[in-house]
Amino acid sequence: MCTVTADPPMSTALQLDLGKSTLHVLLVGNLEEDFFLIRDILTGDRSELRAELDHASTLEEAKAMLLQGHYGLVLFAHETGDAAATRLLSEFLQSGRTIPFIVLTEHADEKSVAEIIEAGAWDCLDKSHLTGANLVRTIRCSLNLQAMQQRGNLAEESLRKLSCAVEQSADTIFITNREGIIEYVNPAFEALSGYSRDEVIGQTPAILKSGQQAPALYRELWETIRSGDVYRGILVNRKKNGDLYYVDESISSIKDAAGNITHFVSNGRDLTERLRIEAQLLQAQKMDAVGRLAGGVAHDFNNLLTIITSYSELALDSVVPGSRTQSRIQEILAAARRAADLTRQLLAFSRKQPQALRVAEINPVVNGIVKTLHRLIGEDIELTFVPGEELGRVRLDPVQIEQILMNLAANARDAMPQGGRCTIATLNVYLDEEYADRKRAVIPPGRYVVLTVADTGTGIPEDQLSLIFEPFYTTKPSGKGTGLGLATVYGIVKQNHGFVWAYSEPGMGTIFKIYLPCVKERIATVESPIAGVVAARGTETVLLVEDEDALRKATAEFLSLRGYNVLEARNGLDALSVTKSHESPIHLAITDVVMPHMSGGQLAKELETLRPEMRVLFVSGYAGQTVLDHKVIDLESNFLQKPFTLTQLASKVRTTLDHAHNAVPVGG
Ligand SMILES: Nc1ncnc2c1ncn2[C@@H]1O[C@H](COP(=O)(O)OP(=O)(O)OP(=O)(O)O)[C@@H](O)[C@H]1O
Ligand SMILES: [Mg+2]
Repeated sequence: MCTVTADPPMSTALQLDLGKSTLHVLLVGNLEEDFFLIRDILTGDRSELRAELDHASTLEEAKAMLLQGHYGLVLFAHETGDAAATRLLSEFLQSGRTIPFIVLTEHADEKSVAEIIEAGAWDCLDKSHLTGANLVRTIRCSLNLQAMQQRGNLAEESLRKLSCAVEQSADTIFITNREGIIEYVNPAFEALSGYSRDEVIGQTPAILKSGQQAPALYRELWETIRSGDVYRGILVNRKKNGDLYYVDESISSIKDAAGNITHFVSNGRDLTERLRIEAQLLQAQKMDAVGRLAGGVAHDFNNLLTIITSYSELALDSVVPGSRTQSRIQEILAAARRAADLTRQLLAFSRKQPQALRVAEINPVVNGIVKTLHRLIGEDIELTFVPGEELGRVRLDPVQIEQILMNLAANARDAMPQGGRCTIATLNVYLDEEYADRKRAVIPPGRYVVLTVADTGTGIPEDQLSLIFEPFYTTKPSGKGTGLGLATVYGIVKQNHGFVWAYSEPGMGTIFKIYLPCVKERIATVESPIAGVVAARGTETVLLVEDEDALRKATAEFLSLRGYNVLEARNGLDALSVTKSHESPIHLAITDVVMPHMSGGQLAKELETLRPEMRVLFVSGYAGQTVLDHKVIDLESNFLQKPFTLTQLASKVRTTLDHAHNAVPVGG
């Protein structure tokens, strides 16, 4: 091996600008004279090429040098018919290198040259006609070809990466020509729109039009992109199956080297799910706000209603029975009761009311509610109640049963705009193990009362049945339904350890079945809230704590008329001082739960220390947690929800006093 250095070695094997950098050339061949000849040509004074020539005389040597060196070109002196040399040539060419490889032959016929070129040599020169001019020209051509090939490879590589990115992008991407004809769509576009590539190529994006946007928007879009600007905006599109979807779209132009627009590329991000969640959140916040408002208003409103009913009742006591004044006052009372119903609905809507569970028979409860349902569902719908016989007892809160029926009946009404039949029924069932297995249901075997509500309405398509109990799921237009009805029903049923199922056939109607577990306990006595019952009387001493003057006066007057000795207090502190200065026994304190300075619960604790034998009856216009937070309160035994009638109060006072002997003390 021998090395001639025409110039100091340069770092790169290949340099396009051959005038400035050195080309490292390896000559492979066993003839020394070839090396000297070529060295003279390449490094001679007249050579335009700055080159450095190495020589390998054997094939083994050449291989080793090629592995180590940074050669930019190989010259291969090839003996015609040299099989080993041809093997090396093809091995070398197949090793994936892209070094230009020029073969120097002697007296090669056309066939041999063809074979050499076929094997992958870049060019072939006849050694006997070798001149400086044709060698350098051949080298230049080969290097140029190599540079072009490399540029092509780079472009191909970068194209491969880009196309991979576009194909795998989670965003929808499509490319149209200047006229808006789609030429390419990526898989994300196919997945979101439901159209396959073949279906949309050749079409325009107009196939996605949803009709939900003004034509002006599309005009603006086209004007923007045709002027070379980027369009950004949220578009509502329609999928192949008709569903709408929302995309955050950015459309820009693709220009050629001369700056002319050749294509448009659209990049879209699916916003459907995010917008749906945002809308739900907004709705939930709205519901929460309405709930708070309802709870707050209900308190004041309930106080006012209690004053109205209290004075009406007092007035009724002092008028001539059968007189016109009596019937007028009764009208006032009836109106106040309707207003109280409304307040209750407001609280039911805010889902803030506590459960007042009692063991009861369901039929009388449903019967009472069905009367009010007629008003809700209108005259075009025939409403019937078919009570089952000898039903088991269930633990329920009548207010919650009312909520369930109100919601189911309202849905039935909405499903029957042209009228129809709504049937409410109750039934006793015993579910055995076999039933539970058959239904593949998570329902413990046992005795249940089933409450069914059936309608002859539109029905629910099968694919929607699994969604209807989800909060905020609604098929009703915005403003018509919140999608909370069945979610509330579900919540209540679950709270009562029951189960609810919906069966439906589109066009035939829908039936909801609610399974409530039966209990063995005896039925609790439910006081009749209806006026007309003779109010209970007594002679005990009652401490009445109420900050609303008008209400306190009316209540005190009423209780005095019923024989009680009434002590009045404005608030908790006042109540304590009245208690301390009253020497005789005080049997009962009636107190509001929420009061300024001292809550009803705190007062009860103080009173228990002062007078352990004293009972406490709580009243409140507040609903929900506010009341339940006061742990001394038992909704069933020592609590009365405002608005109440004085008759209800008298009866509650009587039961609280009568249970005083065997009940656990308050605050325990
Ligand atoms: N009896 C029924 N017949 C047909 N579809 C029903 C029936 N009950 C419920 N659905 C369907 O279930 C959906 C959810 O009902 P849900 O009561 O939870 O909400 P809503 O009635 O739409 O709104 P909201 O009750 O909050 O006013 C309804 O939008 C409707 O599509
Ligand atoms: Mg509903």
